[in-house]
Parts: sequence; C-alpha cells; structure tokens
Amino acid sequence: MTDFLRVRDISASDFNLIVERAIAIKNNPEPWSDSLRGKTLAMIFQKTSTRTRFSFEVGMTQLGGHAIFAQTQHTQMGIADIPDEGKVISRYANLIMARMMFNRDLVALAEGSEVPVINGCDDRYHPAQALTDLMTIKEKFGRTEGLKIVYFGIGNNVSNSLAMASVYAGAQFVLCAPEIDPPALDEEQNALLDASGRYEQTTDIDRAIAGADVIYTDTWINMEHFSDPSFAAEKERRLKLFMPYQINEALLGRSGKPGTLVMHCLPAHKGYEFNETIMYHPNSVVFDQAENRLHAQKGLMLYLLGKL
Ligand code: CP
Ligand code: NVA
Repeated sequence: MTDFLRVRDISASDFNLIVERAIAIKNNPEPWSDSLRGKTLAMIFQKTSTRTRFSFEVGMTQLGGHAIFAQTQHTQMGIADIPDEGKVISRYANLIMARMMFNRDLVALAEGSEVPVINGCDDRYHPAQALTDLMTIKEKFGRTEGLKIVYFGIGNNVSNSLAMASVYAGAQFVLCAPEIDPPALDEEQNALLDASGRYEQTTDIDRAIAGADVIYTDTWINMEHFSDPSFAAEKERRLKLFMPYQINEALLGRSGKPGTLVMHCLPAHKGYEFNETIMYHPNSVVFDQAENRLHAQKGLMLYLLGKL
C-alpha cells in the first residue's frame, strides 16, 4: 500500500507514468468512466479549499466512484486520537485525501489508515499540486526533460513539492527565494535535490530568470494566516521582502524566451506575488493548470488503487 504524502513517496518512474496517463485520461476520459465503480474517497479538510475539494470530488464521480466531504470540525477528530479516526475511516473508504494544517497530523492519520492516504496540502508539502504542474508543463511543451522551471517568492509547501517533482521529471529547478517558511524546511529532500545536479537555490533574480521556460509563484502568506490579525506585522514584513520577486510582465520579459509559461497554483493574491494583470497574460496557463488538478488526480487515484 502506497501513500502520497510527499512526491518522494513514489518512484520517479511511477510519478512520470501518472503524468503521462493523466494527459491520456484528459484527452480520452471515456474508457475510465467506470473504473472506480463502488469505490469511495473520504475527503477530510482542516483548512479551506476550492480546487482540491472540487477536483477530487468531480474526479471520483467521473471515474464511477463516490466522494465524501468532511471538515474536521464536523468530525470527532478534535476529541479522538487521529490515527484511531484514520483507521476507522479506512474501514469504510477505499482512499483518503486529507488537507491537514500540520504534516505531523497527516502522518498520524496515514499511520492509522489501512488504505492509501493522499496529502491535500499541509504546512510542508502539496504533492497533488506538483503532479498537476508537471502534467501541465508536459502538456504544453510535449516534454519536461531539460526545461528550466523557476519558482519565485517564498520557499514553502508548494515549492517543496514542485522542486522534487521537477527533478523527478528531468527538469532543472531553481528556487529564487530570499527565505523559506520554517515549517517547509526539509533538509532530507534538499540533500536529494542537491545530489540530482538539477537543483539550485538563489536570490539572484537576473540569473534565475535568464532562459526560464516556466516561471511559477505562490502566496507569500499561507491561507490560514492571510487574514489573521496576529500575522499582520509579519505580512507587512514579507510584503516588503518579497516584492522584488513578484511575477509581472517586466519579469516575464526578462526570460529571453517568447514562450515562457506563467504558473500559479491559485488562489493568487494580486498585488502581492502576482501583479494585477499577469494572470491574464497570453503566457499564463493558470486556468488550464487548475483544470488539470481534475485529470492528474484521476491518474493518481487510479494509480493508488492499482488500476493504472
Ligand atoms: N491550489 C489549491 O490547492 O487550491 P485550493 O486551496 O483552492 O484547494
Ligand atoms: N502555500 C499555499 C498553498 C495554497 C494552495 C497555502 O498553504 O496556503
């Protein structure tokens, strides 16, 4: 039984297989429409979501299965041990997808579960997003090998998973970030990335943007803190520190390539990591990227249930 709590929970070849199959499923979904009949996905959310919630639920429907949505505050997870609740849910469902605040709680849930668990984004990783992102890049360029993928902004859950996924897919990954959000620090992964020879961390924007095939960013402030008054001072500090790393038309123009893609996992905060207009630039693929959550997750669920 395989969980997908981090990209590196599966092999590079399996990762690339899911990417390829996800594109095939997108182009021809019909043959898969009954493949998870009678199967149930339990979706557990401790935080808010648009894309992750809708795409997993619709994906399960399109594969002939069923999904149950639960917010943790409407379950007994607050008063019971998380591994015990994970075990119980896994006695009903064939697959669990959970968005927990803290990675340690997701790991506890997976320890109890007797069925595969998918990380729907925690404080350290967002692997389902990264799978989608490499699918989108492959769909647009026809390949991922040798591409230069540059992430601007703060090192976080999204950049962690994207870095590992990019290296798995044979791309070069540059993290152009002056800071890493402390919960997202992952020395073990960094050692793997360094050993690949295809990973670089820098604050040199000129060096990072030169020749970029993809430029990517995510919020400088994670969803649970964005409107939190106690985070206001930190929000101000980050706004100043990260503004030079904002993705806008001027930065895009410095890649030296006409076809550089602009990506963002969404939701975007305009005026922060994206300016007001870049999301609607012809090079922006953010809406295709969001759509691809559906197709990539269908591939992922089929893989984890041994149907791919
Ligand atoms: N990108 C992403 O995970 O979006 P949601 O927070 O809306 O699920
Ligand atoms: N880094 C963001 C990702 C949102 C999909 C967050 O954790 O809020």
